[in-house]
Amino acid sequence: MENDLQAIVSQAEACQANISNRSDWDQAKALILGPKGSLTQASKLIGKLPREEKPAFGQALNQAKKQAEAFFATSLSRIEEQADLTALGNPYDPTLPAVPNRSASLHPLSATRRKVVAIFRKLGFTVTEATEAETEWFCFDALNTPEDHPARDAQDTLFFPADSKWSNIAQKNKEHHVLRTHTSSVQIRTLFKEKPPLRVIAPGRCFRRDTVDATHSANFHQTEGLYVDKNVTIKDLKAVLDYFLKELFGDQLETRLRPSFFPFTEPSFEVDLKAPNLGKLSNKWIEIMGCGMVDPEVLKLVNLNPDEWSGFAFGLGIERVAMILHGIDDIRHFYQNDQRFLSQFSNAT
Ligand code: PHE
Repeated sequence: MENDLQAIVSQAEACQANISNRSDWDQAKALILGPKGSLTQASKLIGKLPREEKPAFGQALNQAKKQAEAFFATSLSRIEEQADLTALGNPYDPTLPAVPNRSASLHPLSATRRKVVAIFRKLGFTVTEATEAETEWFCFDALNTPEDHPARDAQDTLFFPADSKWSNIAQKNKEHHVLRTHTSSVQIRTLFKEKPPLRVIAPGRCFRRDTVDATHSANFHQTEGLYVDKNVTIKDLKAVLDYFLKELFGDQLETRLRPSFFPFTEPSFEVDLKAPNLGKLSNKWIEIMGCGMVDPEVLKLVNLNPDEWSGFAFGLGIERVAMILHGIDDIRHFYQNDQRFLSQFSNAT
């Protein structure tokens, strides 16, 4: 009898080798431990045994059951572990090269803006900002830009519908809202808010109805600069811009002021630069920014006496600076979010 039990245990052990999935396991277990299984059948024999043999057989039966259950418990955990591993896929190979650690970096336009801002901060300029949507008055009228100026044409400027509602952009009268075409409107907003002497730069995004090509984008970035104090002259303007441009492009840089026209500065200039370290652009005069002395009409409009106060202003394209600094020949690269372009600037400061 006990030999029979031992044979069943051996059978339970032997069949483990053939079990590789849950349904085989269920079947094999049922054959031995199930209601009709061999061990369950054997246990029924106890009733037929003489009394004195019953305890020994009962013990042997219990032990046989425990051993058989242990075999099935072991094979079940093996099957489950195998199923988990299959679900996890191929094992991890520690000899493979690591996944590249691609850390985030600043967009080249952000990096350039920060560089520009950092230089002006050293000269005591503070940073100010205004909204990208503006009103026609702040964008044009206040800057002495007459009604018939081409910039005010719907072909050049993005106007909002007359009935659009803005809670955070104060109008002067009932004028239209526009997407600002330059950061110069921040000059006016600042002069209404702050009393001179003041030195501010105002970086931000601007919009024009330009047809997009290698050098034009309907959306671009500028930094405005405004300096108002007593006895400010063109010498101050030139000194500040020379310092700024040398910090940006290196000490060997030369600059020149070329007469120009902006309605809100008088006199007005374009600033050109020439430097030996600018790749293909080396040693050529390159136009970099517009500037001029704040027009007395603008000072009067913000209730400053032009006999007492004077100042200069400038406007610089961030894209243009980034393109010259890095030898980029197409403005569209900045907006396409192509990693192959952007990752080249991951170490740019
Ligand atoms: N706002 C001018 C432009 O967008 C640049 C400028 C700014 C010129 C300040 C003079 C003074 O072209």
